Amino acid sequence: LRRASSSSCTSSHLLRRSYSSESHPERKVAVLGAAGGIGQPLALLMKLNPLVSTLSLYDIAGTPGVAADVGHINTRSEVAGFMGEEQLGQALKGSDVVIIPAGVPRKPGMTRDDLFNINAGIVKSLCIAIAKYCPNALVNMISNPVNSTVPIAAEVFKKAGTYDERKLFGVTMLDVVRAKTFYAGKSKVPVAEVNVPVVGGHAGITILPLFSQATPKSNDLSDEEIKALTKRTQDGGTEVVEAKAGKGSATLSMAYAGAIFADACLKGLNGVSDVVECSFVQSNITELPFFASKVRLGKNGVEEVLGLGPLSDYEKQGLESLKPELQASIEKGIKFAHQN
Ligand code: NAD
Ligand code: LMR
Repeated sequence: LRRASSSSCTSSHLLRRSYSSESHPERKVAVLGAAGGIGQPLALLMKLNPLVSTLSLYDIAGTPGVAADVGHINTRSEVAGFMGEEQLGQALKGSDVVIIPAGVPRKPGMTRDDLFNINAGIVKSLCIAIAKYCPNALVNMISNPVNSTVPIAAEVFKKAGTYDERKLFGVTMLDVVRAKTFYAGKSKVPVAEVNVPVVGGHAGITILPLFSQATPKSNDLSDEEIKALTKRTQDGGTEVVEAKAGKGSATLSMAYAGAIFADACLKGLNGVSDVVECSFVQSNITELPFFASKVRLGKNGVEEVLGLGPLSDYEKQGLESLKPELQASIEKGIKFAHQN
């Protein structure tokens, strides 16, 4: 265990004052899988977040180094690294938000579902510990296949008697980040102003960007261009996996997306109003038990699951096409949790 506290030099005080951290409540964020490709840059970004007072970095190996390194950054949070199962309880205790990027990533030619056999067990054991040590935390699930790992987590929490559907999130923010980038590139609107909801799940055709609701509006995009943007968003993960040619999947853009989503969760917990992001959550806006859509975040996690809004015919078709695959992935997760 290594602990590295913020420096007390003048610049640190100035920095802290400019972040006005004094006005923010204490919040502990734990990252499980913190020494990995996503975990490390995510730890960095969470260290930069003034809403975090304690940053807990857990992995099966390598966390003392990551914690010592990140802990030297002169921002508000205290950083501690925890390594190995015997330190998992300590890592989790008192956490307000737990972010899980633990598990294996894809190689070219694999689907996210091909990761199920390894990652399902990892997620299950981490969630058993969450139920024990920080049952009230908001859980941000990044580990793939998200369409199955979120239902696994739900079943583990139900079994432990700690399940609160408002507190479990599949992180689909990277799909939104990609949809925004690709839309801005094609429609030539300033990327910082772009909003695109992405609904459904987080794999292939289950990822359904709603470009008909994108803002700022672009009247120049043809149906073919919308189809191409949809396909690129759905295949965004594979695009990165292929470009990395065997060295893993998206890590940097995922860390960015994960940090934005965790920040939204923290803002909600802190009572900031009108915090709305897309996430894969327990839902009744379709017949599927879990579904990604816009959700309003509040002091207890999900305050409201927002509806889909008006869909184009193309999006309506996409919605119907994704349901069987998403349903099967959800059922696979539930079955795993019951059998193992
Ligand atoms: P990585 O292999 O670089 O890192 C994974 C880390 O998890 C490693 O440090 C490993 O030691 C750790 N780990 C393994 N078992 C663990 C356990 N039991 N407890 C704690 N830590 C454990 O992989 P990565 O590139 O960081 O990807 C991690 C996961 O995130 C993959 O499943 C990947 O598919 C997924 N991912 C999801 C999204 C998304 O949009 N939701 C995006 C990118 C990647
Ligand atoms: C992504 O969308 O980048 C992640 O789900 C990782 C992957 O395997 O594609």
